[in-house]
Amino acid sequence: MLENQLLKIAQDFGSPVYVYDAEKIENQYKRLTNAFKNVKKLKINYAVKALSNISILKLLNSLGSGIDTVSIQEVQLGLAAGFLPEQIIFTPNGVSLSEIEEAAKLGVKINIDNLSILEQFGTKHPKTPVCIRINPHVMAGGNSNISVGHIDSKFGISIHQIPHILRIVENTQMTINGIHMHTGSDILDIEVFLYASEILFETAKQFKNLDFIDFGSGFKVPYKQGDIETNIEELGKKLSARFNEFCKNYGKDLTLAFEPGKFLVSESGSFLTKVNAVKQTTSTVFAQVDSGFNHLIRPMFYGSHHDIVNISNPKGRERFYTVVGYICETDTFGNNRRINEINEGDILCFKNAGAYCFSMTSNYNSRYRPAEVLWYKNKAHLIRKRETFEDITKNQIEVDFSTKKEKVLVK
Ligand SMILES: Cc1ncc(COP(=O)(O)O)c(C=O)c1O
Repeated sequence: MLENQLLKIAQDFGSPVYVYDAEKIENQYKRLTNAFKNVKKLKINYAVKALSNISILKLLNSLGSGIDTVSIQEVQLGLAAGFLPEQIIFTPNGVSLSEIEEAAKLGVKINIDNLSILEQFGTKHPKTPVCIRINPHVMAGGNSNISVGHIDSKFGISIHQIPHILRIVENTQMTINGIHMHTGSDILDIEVFLYASEILFETAKQFKNLDFIDFGSGFKVPYKQGDIETNIEELGKKLSARFNEFCKNYGKDLTLAFEPGKFLVSESGSFLTKVNAVKQTTSTVFAQVDSGFNHLIRPMFYGSHHDIVNISNPKGRERFYTVVGYICETDTFGNNRRINEINEGDILCFKNAGAYCFSMTSNYNSRYRPAEVLWYKNKAHLIRKRETFEDITKNQIEVDFSTKKEKVLVK
């Protein structure tokens, strides 16, 4: 998308506003499927948690994607977006047996990552096939909060517990139809990922009724110039060849599945904010925008970098700014950034704002969540209205503290 198109959206829809470029999502989807074109059966299950707007889900549905969900609400959202139950996989962590049963009742694929739940589910529903999430104990991810395959991680069933899984399967007569891993986000080195895949293949051999092997996700996208990006094309070539060889030995064409979030939507997103004030202190020039970590938490939560561009003054002289929000505590989007000269009222664009940005927003400081706009076929479509004061109060219940009454009444 061009900067003047983004600027026009900020003028037309107000700020702050999230904007997603549909074409970028389509291109990333095609890039991924193309990288794995040598595999007979490929399934991309978009990780809904990254960006869960129903129009984004519908767009991905139209491209042929399935979805990966982590809560019963995401399952319901996927069904509402038109996905068939068999196009949905439920990969929760730490949820109750009853939530898994609810998802199973809706007919979606079930992924279990806990021995106790596996035993209970298999005992009660031996006829419902399930996939097993393995923890290969390989640390392929970046930030420790999002790297989930290591030994101390709460995710998955340890590969050292395979004999226990096999005992449960034998005792309950349940069917294991898939094997899954997710080593974490931000795969820097595909050799590490391929190494973890070997562990998955070794595990898969021990299950005779598989339909698919799910390699999770964690494809790294560049957030700034010079950033390492997972080499999808090379991974596609190497993993496809290895997967095809595995299928030959296994005696069946299994489906190769992935569940990318960031790779599909991160770069499609731009977050537009307006500069409320430029504040010069003794040491720094702050650009204070009409947003905060209530709208974009990644920099404060993960220390993530988002490039920040002044789209109101793209040719202005470059100066150094620390870009901060309006939240009542440290709320820094970027320190000492070189940005074209900023004036109050300018629109700043945060790049790579498609994944884990809107979906992690909150009403902290009683602020409204931003609007969302989808740029599709050269036209801006509002896909979520900005919240209003009613959204802040709608679920709150007032207690009547009037002194005339003896008792406190709950409405
Ligand atoms: C199980 C699982 N699958 C897929 C994803 C998506 O990862 P990414 O957005 O890095 O592609 C995540 C991210 O947290 C995850 O936990």
